[in-house]
Amino acid sequence: MIRISAIMLGLSLAGITAAHAVDTAKLAIQEELPVGRATGDYPAPPGWDKLPEGEFGEKIIRGYNYFVNTQALAPEFVGNGLNCVNCHMDGGKKENAAPLWAAYMSYPAYRKKNNRINSYEERIQGCFLYSMNGTPPEHMSPVLVDLSAYAYWLAQGTLTGEQFNPAEMAIPGDEDLLKGGKRDDFPFTQGYLNAGGSADFKTPGRGYPKLPEPEQAPDIARGKQVYKQECAVCHGANGEGQKVNNRYVFPPLWGPDTYNWGAGMQRVNTAAYFIHQNMPLGQPEKLTEQQAWDVAMFLDTHERPQDPRNHGSLEETVEKFHGGYSQYGKEVNGSVLGTASYPNHPNKP
Ligand code: HEC
Ligand code: HEC
Repeated sequence: MIRISAIMLGLSLAGITAAHAVDTAKLAIQEELPVGRATGDYPAPPGWDKLPEGEFGEKIIRGYNYFVNTQALAPEFVGNGLNCVNCHMDGGKKENAAPLWAAYMSYPAYRKKNNRINSYEERIQGCFLYSMNGTPPEHMSPVLVDLSAYAYWLAQGTLTGEQFNPAEMAIPGDEDLLKGGKRDDFPFTQGYLNAGGSADFKTPGRGYPKLPEPEQAPDIARGKQVYKQECAVCHGANGEGQKVNNRYVFPPLWGPDTYNWGAGMQRVNTAAYFIHQNMPLGQPEKLTEQQAWDVAMFLDTHERPQDPRNHGSLEETVEKFHGGYSQYGKEVNGSVLGTASYPNHPNKP
């Protein structure tokens, strides 16, 4: 399959304000995704030459721009220095970096823990609340609609493959667009159906592929060595990232301006999976699996913004939402993680 690299399309649009209406309790659980191991065989997302014409094409471009330039285009929903693309690499297209084409077709998703169904929109709102340490845009807000249009197009194009003809892609209403593609009435393209595609498909490359349990327990001191050697050159000696003209060119990994204690990336295992496939930048699987676990442990035993679900009791928040590989609430170097956390949605300087 052909891969056509993305071109930058300039376009700007202000988001909308007022976001208190989001029921964040619904977004409470950042569960691990049910993903497998890396396999080496992945479909290719569509290039910009497959952009549909007209209004829907513009929605897609705006969604792409929100995704890669969240700071500038949707600042009212963002409380840190990150952009979506920092963790969903290559504009959300790269396999094994939680690509949007696989994500879109995995919602609505049933969540056992809170016995409810999460839409694609709610999953994005979750990333605004935790990964972006922000205030999620409310239901149906243009930012969410545009982000969903971008993911919908990537999903349709990726499923259909080289036969993809954007002119024959159905254009859903906003309400449907926000649900995600895993629904009985999803309008598959004729090209996909002709090629034998069905509603029963797999999404290889989804999420960050699991690593086996580490041989040795992840170790902060070893992780620190890996960090110094492989990461500090870009992310800074203290995980603070690097700015040019007041914008991060290398995103921060801990401290006040990065993902908070409710984000998926604060789980050491999720960070290890991400790092093994995606870091150091452009060198997938450079680190051994053990090194990925160790450096993930090092990152995620530093203070960051508070878990927004913490309403005063650290113990209760740990009990309800943490556990497994989360280090929140654990004592490291004489201080308990989560007791000196930074604010949520801090005002931007
Ligand atoms: C700090 C890293 C980070 C940032 C920034 C981030 N995300 Fe995520 N995102 C994650 C992680 C981690 C997961 C869950 C992966 C897991 O648990 O395996 C996730 C999951 C998702 C999913 C669901 C993926 C799937 O396959 O089910 C979507 C959609 C998503 N994010 C969209 C966004 C959008 C839109 C933004 C920007 C508003 C954003 N993310 C910003 C880390 C991030
Ligand atoms: C050559 C520079 C470079 C090196 C070296 C590097 N990174 Fe990154 N890292 C980046 C860039 C750039 C991004 C954002 C990617 C994007 O936007 O496409 C990033 C993103 C990340 C993220 C997700 C975003 C965030 O702020 O949390 C994590 C976690 C991360 N890197 C960890 C590491 C670790 C651990 C190492 C060392 C093993 C490392 N990086 C080495 C450049 C680098």
